[in-house]
Amino acid sequence: MSLPAITTIVGSGTMGPGIAAIFARAGSQVRVFDISEVALENAKSALTLCESVLDQIGGKSTSSGTVTFHTDLAEALTDTNFVVEAVPEKIDLKKSVLADVEKYVGKDVIIASNTSGIPITAIAEALTNPERFIGMHWSNPPHIIPMIEVVPGEKTGGAIADRLIEIVHAFGYEAVYEKEKAGFVENRVLYAILRECLALVDEGVISQRDLDVCVKWGIGYKLAVVGPMRLLDMAGLDIYTSVASYLNPDLSNTAGVPSFISDLVEKGELGMKSSGGIFEYGDGDVAKTRGEIVKQFIAVRKSMPAPLSGSII
Ligand SMILES: NC(=O)c1ccc[n+]([C@@H]2O[C@H](COP(=O)([O-])OP(=O)(O)OC[C@H]3O[C@@H](n4cnc5c(N)ncnc54)[C@H](O)[C@@H]3O)[C@@H](O)[C@H]2O)c1
Repeated sequence: MSLPAITTIVGSGTMGPGIAAIFARAGSQVRVFDISEVALENAKSALTLCESVLDQIGGKSTSSGTVTFHTDLAEALTDTNFVVEAVPEKIDLKKSVLADVEKYVGKDVIIASNTSGIPITAIAEALTNPERFIGMHWSNPPHIIPMIEVVPGEKTGGAIADRLIEIVHAFGYEAVYEKEKAGFVENRVLYAILRECLALVDEGVISQRDLDVCVKWGIGYKLAVVGPMRLLDMAGLDIYTSVASYLNPDLSNTAGVPSFISDLVEKGELGMKSSGGIFEYGDGDVAKTRGEIVKQFIAVRKSMPAPLSGSII
């Protein structure tokens, strides 16, 4: 199997439209299902935006792919070859949606969940054929970040991860294979970074703005070119050993959330979605900031070697 002829995406909120765009541009007939008609209407405009970003990035764009929108699950799943579940991150909801999905698809159809970290083995309990179920964790925005975590559960069949990696490669993305571990690798690394950053700001060691400048240029820029393993080889493992010996014991290992974050959450200041958070956003600032971020994502993507090009990692 290379790219599935028909792909069904179940759940079309933040992630669904970008995922749909990637499959369709590679040539799949994509069906997007959601229980909410409003969500599907929003998904249509989101899809247009994703298409415009993808036109700017370049990469795959065949004319044979299509996207259709559905509120009837049976219609969205009939004869489908591959399912991506992207409903909200609630285990009971995912279990009930996937049990429904299974009623309308052939026994061999792979069902992949975009869960951010709910154990695949736990979700699979709802399935009659758990061997065809696997984690397929896209990174947000899914039409821009060309990397997918492939995470089999305990009952996932031996060949399923290989088939999923083949599909991911068929639409031009990198795939990384992981053993099941709470939160999956990308979020574990991100949350380790976030914990230390928040601790430093909370202690008053550095301001929010300077923390972002330090991490963006000092770490982010490097990590866009080489991963942490290569970075260690560049730095020298002897240097790492010396620094880690005094620094590791001093790093934050708190299990909690710093009070300045919980205070903001209590006040309803949740970030860009509520126009207030760690930074302040005046009238029009959120749209402007989001626009600028997408512009920079596109510029950086275009300057990086294409995924699967064999360039240095
Ligand atoms: N948002 C992110 O940054 C991000 C990144 C990676 C993975 N994920 C994961 O992707 C999944 C979806 O996240 P999201 O941010 O797109 O969520 P979202 O809340 O934006 O969208 C979920 C969509 O699912 C729909 N839905 C709810 N119940 C449904 C049902 N029974 N059948 C079909 N559709 C239903 C909702 O109407 C909504 O449109 C979650 O598991 C999340 O953890 C999210």
